[in-house]
Amino acid sequence: MNKHNAPLRVGILFSKTGVTSDIESSQLQGTLLAIEEINGSGGIDGRELQAVYYDPGSSPSTCKTLAEKLMADDGVRIILGCYMSSERKAVLPVVERWNGLLFYPTLYEGFEYSRNVIYTGAAPNQNSVQLAEYMMREFGSRVYMVGSDYIYPYESNRIMSDLLLERGGEKVGERYVKLGATAEDFDDVLVDIRNKRPDFIFSTVVGQATATFYRAYAESGLDPARMPIGSLTTSETEVRQMGASIAKGHITAATYFQSIGSDANRRCLTKLKQRFGEDTVTNMCWEAAYFQTYLLAAGLSAIGTDNVPQLVPALLGLEFTAPQGVVKIDADNHHAYLTPRIGRVREDGQFDILHEAKQPVKPDPYLVEHSLEDWSARVTAATL
Ligand code: ACM
Repeated sequence: MNKHNAPLRVGILFSKTGVTSDIESSQLQGTLLAIEEINGSGGIDGRELQAVYYDPGSSPSTCKTLAEKLMADDGVRIILGCYMSSERKAVLPVVERWNGLLFYPTLYEGFEYSRNVIYTGAAPNQNSVQLAEYMMREFGSRVYMVGSDYIYPYESNRIMSDLLLERGGEKVGERYVKLGATAEDFDDVLVDIRNKRPDFIFSTVVGQATATFYRAYAESGLDPARMPIGSLTTSETEVRQMGASIAKGHITAATYFQSIGSDANRRCLTKLKQRFGEDTVTNMCWEAAYFQTYLLAAGLSAIGTDNVPQLVPALLGLEFTAPQGVVKIDADNHHAYLTPRIGRVREDGQFDILHEAKQPVKPDPYLVEHSLEDWSARVTAATL
């Protein structure tokens, strides 16, 4: 094999084990589906995209060790991976030291930029602003925040607090539970919620504990029609874990839902189900994992090498018709233009899309230019 048809190797770090294994396994499926499709249609100008995969076990320190292994031992410079922000923060110094490139397909707290990262999940101006606006308008101004005990929930709650307070909202409680929390860990929280009677709950609980929390909420007799949980992390995958009857009526803001009716989404779902089984569900992190692999492939095709200093300029400004609609990498901040939506869980575990932006929203990871009115002016009630 000469260098003109040698495979292009990419590292993959999504967990099949540990507290966020369900959502990360869906990101792995999205990545592998895209790689198989790309290779099935000729690869990168005849060169195969070859996955070098390790399971980080939902552990930031293992993510860091494996990123180092990919760079030092496997000679890989590009990594597709990470769900939790603590995982990304652990991998960041490694990719920066090796001048590699991390493609990160997860909504996160923003306030970060690295020239060694391409961020394809929602920044706060593409999900938090929309959720704050919707929940306050529909349910009221008193919020109770519940999150998992790590960086993303702290930061996301800080941003959500600012968004709510700047339009007259009130935070009546803020509690954190450990990753992998059990039902008992939510006992106190639910007692406090019942006492404080917020208008809605903002959940930044992630991973397997999400199902535990929503189940405990249902068992304590609370009603989503009167005091729903609004979230940025509760997707079709967590709904599958908890069961649709538990999730029905709760709200999520996301840039993708499986129920989107676009041709690109329908085609992709058909292929996914053929490959991974008829009952496979998708979510916003699966979709970002899928489309970012296509963006990578387009960048590699444009320059014919995986040399990162050449690849990054080729990626900036790239567009792709993803299942959510057209996405584009912003040349200034390495984040993606995405289409915000608000969804409510229905009885089959899918989301009714209640609102969606008329066009992709420019990423503003430092919330410099956002305004709540921005979104209101740009949304349209979706035709269902
Ligand atoms: C997250 O930790 N960015 C969900």
